[in-house]
Amino acid sequence: MSFVSSLLAQMTLKEKIGQMSQFNNDDDEKLENSVKNDDVGSVINEVNIDVINELQRLATQESRLGIPLLIGRDVIHGFNTIFPIPLGQAATWSPELVETCANIAAIESSNSGINWTFAPMIDISRDPRWGRIAESLGEDPYLCSVLGSAMVNGFQGENLSDKNSIAACAKHFAGYGASESGRDYNTTNIPENEFRNVYLPPFKALADAGVSTFMASFSDLNGVPVTGNSWLLNDVLREEWKYPGPVVSDWGSIPQLVTHGFCVDEESAAFEACQAGVDIEMASDTYAKNLPLLIKNNKVSLEQIDTMVNRILLLKFDLGLFDTPFTESTLLEEKLNSNHLNVAKQVATKSCVLLKNSKQTLPLSKAKISSLAVIGPLADDGYEQLGTWVFDAKPSQSITCLNAIKKHVGDSVDVSFSKGLETSRSINQEGFNDARQIALSADVALMILGEEAILSGEAHCRSNIDLPGCQEQLINAIYETGTPIVLVIMAGRPITLEKVLPKVDAVLFAWHPGTMGGPAITELLFGETCPSGKLPVTFPRNVGQIPLYYSQKNTGRPASDATFVDINDIKVRAPQTSLGMTCAHLDTHFSPLFPFGFGLSYTQFEYKNIKVNKHLVNIGENVEITVTISNVGNFDSEEVVQLYIRDLVGSVTRPVKELKGFQRVYLPAGQSEKIVFTVHTDELAFYNRQMKLKTEAGLFNVWIGSNSDTELKTEFEVVIQQD
Ligand code: GLC
Repeated sequence: MSFVSSLLAQMTLKEKIGQMSQFNNDDDEKLENSVKNDDVGSVINEVNIDVINELQRLATQESRLGIPLLIGRDVIHGFNTIFPIPLGQAATWSPELVETCANIAAIESSNSGINWTFAPMIDISRDPRWGRIAESLGEDPYLCSVLGSAMVNGFQGENLSDKNSIAACAKHFAGYGASESGRDYNTTNIPENEFRNVYLPPFKALADAGVSTFMASFSDLNGVPVTGNSWLLNDVLREEWKYPGPVVSDWGSIPQLVTHGFCVDEESAAFEACQAGVDIEMASDTYAKNLPLLIKNNKVSLEQIDTMVNRILLLKFDLGLFDTPFTESTLLEEKLNSNHLNVAKQVATKSCVLLKNSKQTLPLSKAKISSLAVIGPLADDGYEQLGTWVFDAKPSQSITCLNAIKKHVGDSVDVSFSKGLETSRSINQEGFNDARQIALSADVALMILGEEAILSGEAHCRSNIDLPGCQEQLINAIYETGTPIVLVIMAGRPITLEKVLPKVDAVLFAWHPGTMGGPAITELLFGETCPSGKLPVTFPRNVGQIPLYYSQKNTGRPASDATFVDINDIKVRAPQTSLGMTCAHLDTHFSPLFPFGFGLSYTQFEYKNIKVNKHLVNIGENVEITVTISNVGNFDSEEVVQLYIRDLVGSVTRPVKELKGFQRVYLPAGQSEKIVFTVHTDELAFYNRQMKLKTEAGLFNVWIGSNSDTELKTEFEVVIQQD
């Protein structure tokens, strides 16, 4: 009999239910007593190493069977060293960098006794009104799958029992990003075919990557809240995917089944969640209160409980907690690790996306400018640049843009500074004059605007995603001075910039860049490095276009420039059927402001000679697609080369484009390189009309380019091999 099985056999029902209960540490004494009494299996939100070691001592030396604790924390984009928000990390399109960030986060958090993080968040996010888009990896299932798997590897390392490995958690399973109107916790209605082809693939990828745990979402999925959804948590996760790890509820999501109107009371909620397969209850006590009676009344079987507790004990065993429950602190927490900071700067540098650079305003040159006006409420704020989901970092350790710029230019450039507005939401324009004055006497106005950290993240949704407050007015005020404007935006979501773009000469989108945001942005602005970030999410022109994403369906009447009629061009009493009659708004062009995958460099890249190695591809074979990319500009730079396909005809309609490959390549100015992609026909599979995952024969278009709007294409045909 295995160690876990023999331990399980010795446990009382009370001890088993204790393993299924996760306590939020809001009362030390109550928690310590509960641990000693075998009522606790895991703890959330304790980060003091001495408290954690004492809790582990109570658990392993004073409880009856000495079972160690899982210690969970939201280590979302760093612990002491903060990296760009996940949406910003996604803009690097670099699994290697994303993995490194997660690995450093694991090193720093495990050093405090944390052994479980509630990350990666891999909800497909196509509504920038939703605050949690900030902690997502964007709109695309392929990009999310690749980067989310890299994060799991970073957190969990080679071996989960290694000192610096922590268990990861695929969340929020599933479909949470489809919350209606971008309001958090809202209803989701997702047809099964869309659910399986868009929202589930990243979770399946992480299950295949060995993620240790899953978290059930708060959301109501097609009328059955996920936390009580046996189809999703049992039929899909356990039966279809054979996933072995524990599922944790979200915060209070089990008693919320009553609020949903799905359960009449908490006993019923405990029953439904248990039947669905939620193994651990986060921060509420419906299991502790109701499972004993449910089992006594034979509504829940002991076998069911044993199956659930077995998953929890196996996780603790795999983490090595039975051998090493205590943590010996090795990192000097008050002193951030310089290697970690270097990675934070590198990732922030590669996450920034250059959206506009007219008249080659950027890069700035110390030789060409003698005065620089730095303006904006986010230019010198080490707290706001960290972004959402930051609990264990010290904002005083951030390096802001203003400080980094001053250090970079030294005495060679006169740097003046004015906040212009107190915060990103301020409507008091008293500071405009001061800002105007310094802009008037400067060669360039560098405006650092965007959203405070609190304006994105959980429950922080916006119905209008323009720059908040009077920031647009501040841009107008500086525009009137005639001084060229470089705009840097720090935000947790796409911002609607259509009104702002004509007023500024360059735009660098920095997301919330983290601890080293200042040096990273400075390095890019002054051309030490070329911007190379690419959008992991579509930027709409205005909020009325949402949801707007590149991998849309063609519809029976696709919009086109040939048929689009702008509202201002419509003749009075125009005949009813004269306006194009296609899938477009009258008052906004149907294209996004910036497409998925978009990002400029200081140099220019040319793509030529796209080719396939064979036109007919048998099911089960690979097809090779090659292209020649040339750096035809004056700067050495990295570029994210992207490969998209389109399955022209399917038993269910297929998107007009789907990302199926990308490579981040470095190309010195003047150099060319042949890039090769290999795609297996299995990667073209989708859930068909019979809800089976299959690749269908037929014609495919394939594109390679620098964003999802690329037009360089060729084609191949998948055929079923004739015997
Ligand atoms: C929150 C979030 C979840 C997080 C958990 C613990 O409500 O939905 O993502 O991991 O509670 O903080």
